[in-house]
Amino acid sequence: MAIQKVGVVGCGLMGSGIAQVSAQAGFQTVVREVSGELVEKGLKGIEKNLARLVEKGSLTEAAKGEIQGRLKGTTSLEGLKDCDVIVEAIIEQLPAKRELFSALDAICGPNTIFASNTSSLTITEIAAATKRPQRFVGLHFFNPVPVMKLVEVVRTIATDPGIYEEMVGFGAKLGKTPVRAQDGGGFIVNRLLVPYLLDSIRALEEGVGSVLDIDNSMKLGCGYPMGPFTLLDFVGLDTTYYISQIMFDEFKEKRFAAPPLLKRMVLAGWHGKKSGRGFYDYSDPNNPKPMQL
Ligand code: 3HC
Repeated sequence: MAIQKVGVVGCGLMGSGIAQVSAQAGFQTVVREVSGELVEKGLKGIEKNLARLVEKGSLTEAAKGEIQGRLKGTTSLEGLKDCDVIVEAIIEQLPAKRELFSALDAICGPNTIFASNTSSLTITEIAAATKRPQRFVGLHFFNPVPVMKLVEVVRTIATDPGIYEEMVGFGAKLGKTPVRAQDGGGFIVNRLLVPYLLDSIRALEEGVGSVLDIDNSMKLGCGYPMGPFTLLDFVGLDTTYYISQIMFDEFKEKRFAAPPLLKRMVLAGWHGKKSGRGFYDYSDPNNPKPMQL
């Protein structure tokens, strides 16, 4: 089956990035949000990103117009019914994802392939809400989606091998390097990344070093593009907390348990860069101030 039309559910940070790379790769793309306001906000963000590429000279104005021409917004799930692939990027909560896919299963034709961008939930459990688990994969992208070159393509024990290979190929057509992963908690990246991020918080709690010194250590000592606290704020402390809870629930291992400080910061509404405060205070966005413990 030739994939021509792609649906994306959710036009937040991840969904808008996925919609952008899909339209840039030449696919007709429909993105669905729950309100007209959110559709507009998502499409405006994409427009801004494309305009930046034009400014830098890596995209022509004409190509920008063509990409935007391939991109449509909708508030109804019916608007996705003739898509060949639907990628979900909504809130990281199992009941919401199951409910969404169960509804899409009734709306879409039998050939539509479903994919979830979940970072830590079990694909098998989401797919079980549909009557097409054989046409269901995980497609896990990384933030910022237009920049990060990886997509994890996740198969369950029920995924049809032919569909799986088609989705590996789809990941490559989106301009990403696809890696094959099994449906195990956190797949490949978060299985390794989450314990590292949580350990950084534990090191801070134990007074091993300050926020800035731990960040500088990993950035300058190991060549990571961001130190762990900058990355935690970038990913979102709430997101990291959810992921750690899901992974702890799966493995029952201490390395996946959320440190008390993370829990308290989330309870206090310090969700990282998006809320203006996390391990850094972003009151002055050009000069974030590290938290002092
Ligand atoms: N959207 C689109 N493009 C963006 C962007 C965004 N949000 N942020 C940065 N860019 C582009 C810039 O325009 C620039 O493009 P250019 O090279 O063509 O000029 C390029 O990215 C580099 O940006 P900057 O020079 O402004 O800044 P940096 O060199 O510091 O790079 C970064 C920014 C790419 C975000 C880099 O700091 C980085 O790689 N950080 C680590 C990100 C990471 O680890 N992401 C994965 C998080 S884990 C995850 O998503 C999984 C989830 O399940 C938790």
